[in-house]
Amino acid sequence: MGNHTGPSRPSVSRRELCIAAGAAGISALAGCSTGNTNSSRAGNATTITDHSSPDLEKWVDEVPRPSVAEPSGTKDGRPRYEIAMGEVEQKLHRDLPATTVWGYDGQFPGPTIEAEQGEPIYVRWTNDLPDEHLLPEDTTIHSDLIPYDTPGVRTVTHLHGGNVESESDGHAQAWFTRDFQETGPEFEKKDYYYVNDQPPATLWYHDHSLGITRLNVYAGLAGFYLLRSDHERSLGLPEGEYEIPLVLQDRSFERDGSLFYPTAISDEKGGSDESHPDPSIVPQFYGDTSVVNGKAWPRLSVEPRSYRFRLLNGSNSRYYSLQFRRYDESPGETDGDGPSFVQVGNDGGLLSTPVEIGDRLELGAGQRADVVVDFSESAGETLLLHNDAPAQYRGKTGLGDDDIVPLPEIMLVDVNEAGDSQDATELPDELTRVPDISIDSVDNERYLTLNGGATDDYSRQLYLLGTAEEPDGLKIDAPVTEEPALGDTEIWSFANRSGMSHPMHLHLVHFQMVGRQSIGDYDPDEDELDLEALEAPKPYERGWNDVITVDPGEIVHVIVHFGGHDGLFNDQTGTYMWHCHMLEHEDHDMMRPFTVLPNDGRGADSDDVDDSTTQR
Ligand code: C2O
Ligand code: CU
Repeated sequence: MGNHTGPSRPSVSRRELCIAAGAAGISALAGCSTGNTNSSRAGNATTITDHSSPDLEKWVDEVPRPSVAEPSGTKDGRPRYEIAMGEVEQKLHRDLPATTVWGYDGQFPGPTIEAEQGEPIYVRWTNDLPDEHLLPEDTTIHSDLIPYDTPGVRTVTHLHGGNVESESDGHAQAWFTRDFQETGPEFEKKDYYYVNDQPPATLWYHDHSLGITRLNVYAGLAGFYLLRSDHERSLGLPEGEYEIPLVLQDRSFERDGSLFYPTAISDEKGGSDESHPDPSIVPQFYGDTSVVNGKAWPRLSVEPRSYRFRLLNGSNSRYYSLQFRRYDESPGETDGDGPSFVQVGNDGGLLSTPVEIGDRLELGAGQRADVVVDFSESAGETLLLHNDAPAQYRGKTGLGDDDIVPLPEIMLVDVNEAGDSQDATELPDELTRVPDISIDSVDNERYLTLNGGATDDYSRQLYLLGTAEEPDGLKIDAPVTEEPALGDTEIWSFANRSGMSHPMHLHLVHFQMVGRQSIGDYDPDEDELDLEALEAPKPYERGWNDVITVDPGEIVHVIVHFGGHDGLFNDQTGTYMWHCHMLEHEDHDMMRPFTVLPNDGRGADSDDVDDSTTQR
């Protein structure tokens, strides 16, 4: 290794066939996205194109179920967990040597935290990681804000989707190293407090350390946090062994089992640009191997009955657009549609009614879908969880074509001929009441821009978030520009001026999507928001969201209330982050703070804040 003048690649025709298959959304082709075992490097810097993961036999391992975290004691009468981040060896595939990963509590993905609405918990996240990062750090990223020469790995855990006090939110600069030896400027406390005063929902936790989130999460630092309630249990949704959290991720491997993460950007011809630092951040990352709950190309065996899946897109950049397809394993071909998803919840909790997703279910990075799938008509069949999202999705990325690796095959499902249990699942017509945030209550509107036009000091494309006044974008350390007061209701209008889709995320709050329209049809200085002119949310965009996809050339308007709402959520003030959830974008530089100010009584609707009614 080391003396190649150019990357060696799998057969171009096979690769292009695979890319074409993904882009056209046609059935999975056998052998696509496995590449060959010929992983070679040009120098030290390796692009996605340079690398192919070992050709692993698919569907040989069963999908693991993450374990459930146990509290280690109590604090102020509440359960207190202590969860350590550490480096472990884990078998991710039968034929792959054990992979060094970073796990919470020694596991990738981390153990699931089971929480109950109305019952707060404390979690002390501790850092037992080695001194050196598992993956190459690009020290040019936020080099003025990050002490790269300080020993130890910086970590901080964010509860994604949690209505959490700001000191416990996992601010990107609230990082800490092993044994809290070094801490970032926003670090405030060791025991994080999660009040759990929000609708029951599929939340997740993951690392959020400034400038290295993409690497820490890729190394394995993520897990589920399921918030439940009596009302939700009364709905008769599949439970126990019939409720399965599934985190979908993409990874690439070396033949020795180690994780591969690119260290150079390819240009269209597959070489890397001389002017870039080595290692360099990449504009996005697309792995060539599907990993579900920490197993590569796994299979799940189910009974012919209904299951509840908590789907999470835990990938760095990749979009998923999912459907079950009937699958014939020997030719490795799909034929016909499998059972459909009936969505019962999204990011922020239950939808008001179950929604049958006739077509595909889309998940951007960080998004969740709570779905029920009825396998009773599929007894004896094999099904493929199929993804037809081409990696670049809608629009264009800053990557060379060869770096855009589609991933059509996610997981196989074997439906047994018969089950051991009677399936009594009958979904109620009404799941919960999702209160509408009324447009009439809006105190303020913000026009926020998503930009891909800037470059950094190394002529790398820089993604930036901006405002109406600074439309070309601001860096993370520019003064806070979004400062709602507690009790305010706002419209945030995300205008995507870049060439690709971005999954936009707000900490703390859940918003409701109002609608989308073309960027040219709305000028905040001239136009009133015209509800009639908007394209309605997609079925899976209803209800409470904390991530929303904004396609190139469009504006997505969301309505958000800061503070308690209809007996839900909790009054929090302080500084939080909003950002693109493609982790490579978040790190380079598509993240900004927002601050919820205390209500100074200047007329915001403090009377919406009503803790006397408890909503289910
Ligand atoms: Cu899941 Cu700030 O992110
Ligand atoms: Cu983005």
